[in-house]
Amino acid sequence: MGPGPSDINPRVLQAMATPVVGHLDPEFVQIMDDIKVMTQQTFRTSNELTFTVSAPGSAGMETCLVNLLEPADEAVICIHGVFGGRMADIAERCGAKVWRVEAPWGEPIDPSQVKDALEQCSPKLVAIVHAETSTGVLQPLDEISSMTHDAGALLVVDAVTSYCGTELNVDDWGIDAIYSGTQKCLSAPPGLSPVSFSQRAVEALEQRSTKVQSWFLDLSLVKNYWAGAKRAYHHTAPVSAMFALREAYRIVLEEGLEARFLRHRDNHKLLRDGLEQRGFEFLVDEPYRLPMLNAVKLPQGVDDASTRSRLLNEFNIEVGGGLGNFAGKIWRIGLMGESCNPDHIDKLFHALDSILN
Ligand SMILES: Cc1ncc(COP(=O)(O)O)c(C=O)c1O
Repeated sequence: MGPGPSDINPRVLQAMATPVVGHLDPEFVQIMDDIKVMTQQTFRTSNELTFTVSAPGSAGMETCLVNLLEPADEAVICIHGVFGGRMADIAERCGAKVWRVEAPWGEPIDPSQVKDALEQCSPKLVAIVHAETSTGVLQPLDEISSMTHDAGALLVVDAVTSYCGTELNVDDWGIDAIYSGTQKCLSAPPGLSPVSFSQRAVEALEQRSTKVQSWFLDLSLVKNYWAGAKRAYHHTAPVSAMFALREAYRIVLEEGLEARFLRHRDNHKLLRDGLEQRGFEFLVDEPYRLPMLNAVKLPQGVDDASTRSRLLNEFNIEVGGGLGNFAGKIWRIGLMGESCNPDHIDKLFHALDSILN
């Protein structure tokens, strides 16, 4: 029940134990195709350039930014927690001029501040985190998406924690580049990053005048491994993790996205009610709360480190601590994918009652 990785279904673990085939074996190429289609379905996109980066969410973040930004480009980066800060760092390493739009931790980004930033520069892109795992904030995207497009810029979204756990519509919301991770609400092993790029983003890639500074993440190279009748060797894919990913996607689609979102919302409410009865207070205002990552302030007198270590050692339950200014003050309780169920919540309440009483 931490901020990820979440529990993994035995079907997925079993798939990961399948004997390995070569990364260009026709059977493996078919598996890549299956994964691509299921990635499109779960992102709700028809983007052709949709695939899985063979590295964790941070590599998905880097893939989006190093491919879309060139030295001297301008970028508006929204920061309302740890991960927005990382995007700004990467954008600066690409040589871009970064315009930071910040919100206090625990609050969403205010669209009017994005508008102000867009008026001051000529941005190539706006980047924003949909679900800030460090604070538990769900960021509304619709208004920011339209103002980004009005300014002629591309919208880049971090959906590492929101993907497969709450509403996310890549095409309808006008998202041009998106990345996620496999270890949160998708409940697959960590270490892979599903990504997708709109036609507008692909055009921006084609118009680059400089080489992408990362060889491994350069889309013009890696796309030949994921698309076309004849696949070209780019790198040795993590075959076992991909077997697991395909099975995890099948489970998501068998449940159905809407049913999965509802399950995350329902269990969040169950957790919220029980935590509030026990004196925990939510950090984030109701409309902006993430269902899959519950950031709560500790009740007076509850010690963070010793209580979390008792939860882990005596009850086998992991919850996440706070980051940055929130270290020692909040907990981040995950309800992600396979871990999002009433049984986990009951066990947590039982453990808390026995420790806190
Ligand atoms: C919102 C967000 N973005 C990016 C990342 C980085 O992902 P990874 O740790 O898989 O590299 C995380 C990881 O927790 C995250 O929560």
